Amino acid sequence: MLANWRAAQSWTNDSTMATRTISQKLRTLVDYLDGLTERATIDGLDAQLRAANVSIDDVAAFVRFNDHRYLRNLVCEGPWYHLLVLCWKSGQRSPIHNHAGSTCGFKVLKGEVTETRFDMTPAKIVHPVSTHPLPAGELAVTQDADIHQMSNLQAPSLDVVTLHIYSPPLFRMDTYSLTDSKVSDFRPMVLESAGSGI
Ligand SMILES: [Fe+2]
Repeated sequence: MLANWRAAQSWTNDSTMATRTISQKLRTLVDYLDGLTERATIDGLDAQLRAANVSIDDVAAFVRFNDHRYLRNLVCEGPWYHLLVLCWKSGQRSPIHNHAGSTCGFKVLKGEVTETRFDMTPAKIVHPVSTHPLPAGELAVTQDADIHQMSNLQAPSLDVVTLHIYSPPLFRMDTYSLTDSKVSDFRPMVLESAGSGI
């Protein structure tokens, strides 16, 4: 398992991954992403995510869970994007983080994810300003200094699957604590599988 993990910090374009047949909906989205020549805009990402209308069936081949942490499963990558399927078991949550130079769009494909948004206070400690559940079908786009946390707060056995686009790829982010002003450098891990890199 460990051999399949890599730090998402050294993107290369020489993918040797196997080619997988994918749905037309996913292909439409990947074609848009492959055509990017610069960072995606919030409006562009929002529109393409809505138009693609990707469902859980379209990403079934990339859905993998872990008992100990949410998993970031790579679907496809390019110079200006990462397309990922994130899988969350009950109780799993992301760190409180920003998006450090990337535009991030996500769509909930299964279950209900909870997004909590934060503001930075004068004390340099983050403060939650809103928490809202996003059921399957909902989507959101955020960027740069926006600080949030995503969680699966549903009962045990209820999973969440979300489709995420980061443009450009999010190789690092700042993470925050509720109890002090320390800001940490976090490099999210991406799980590749045979078929990612379609
Ligand atoms: Fe995020």
